Amino acid sequence: MRKLSLVILSIMLAASLPACGRTGRTDSQAGGNSAARTPAAQKDGTTNNTEENNQAKSSQTGNSNILIAYFTVPEDVEASGNDAVAGASIVVKDNERMGNTEYVAGIVQKTTGGDLFKIETKDAYPLEHDTLVDQAADEQDKNLRPELSGHIEDIGKYDTIILGYPNWWADLPMPVYSFLEEYDFSGKTIIPFVTHGGSGFSSTISTISELQPDADISSNTLSLPRQDVADGEEETREWAESLGLGTSS
Ligand SMILES: Cc1cc2nc3c(=O)[nH]c(=O)nc-3n(C[C@H](O)[C@H](O)[C@H](O)COP(=O)(O)O)c2cc1C
Repeated sequence: MRKLSLVILSIMLAASLPACGRTGRTDSQAGGNSAARTPAAQKDGTTNNTEENNQAKSSQTGNSNILIAYFTVPEDVEASGNDAVAGASIVVKDNERMGNTEYVAGIVQKTTGGDLFKIETKDAYPLEHDTLVDQAADEQDKNLRPELSGHIEDIGKYDTIILGYPNWWADLPMPVYSFLEEYDFSGKTIIPFVTHGGSGFSSTISTISELQPDADISSNTLSLPRQDVADGEEETREWAESLGLGTSS
């Protein structure tokens, strides 16, 4: 039944995903694991201390029990002007070009304080839309776990993980599976937010629960359609304030 719903949803989404043409996908299940460095948190205990992004980029706001982790792919679309919105997947503010989820994550970080962590893969994703959607579909079909390039130094210090991602084919992007399978969030609170092209969260919240069965998944979530992201600062800030985690600015 779930598969049938997803197939129907994917068909509906084909209309909102330009030149995509994908009408179904394979349901993803948990499995696999990737390396983490943090002894207290990692499931497999292996070490993989990698390059530039191997720690949460702390903003040192005094609220460092909060982690804002997000995945984003700012597509290679035309954007003109300093404060422009491109239809697909980017926000441009003050000449800075960001993915939708990245933009929202930045506002959440400014509002709650906490450490910002970008979930990145060793192999970068293509930025061209059609290539990206095809690759994402293929990864889902194969239930892949892309290897991440950065890892969190001390996951034990975080009580709250605010987790942001784009809806990809009615599912979590596979790197978010990699991320959720790398750490043990037992006893911690996960607060999801999503940016999307019309599907909202799809079934991603229950997938997060399956991947982190001993975490508390907050019901206070944020779902932002991509066309609302660039003007979504106030909504995002109000939501982040409503989490009651304290503000930093
Ligand atoms: C590979 C891919 C698959 C997508 N699948 C869906 C989908 O199933 N449902 C939906 O509402 N939006 C879908 N979208 C739209 C994205 O969720 C939306 O553009 C999002 O804001 C992108 O966030 P980002 O810029 O942070 O990557 C998809 C986009 C991509 C690139």
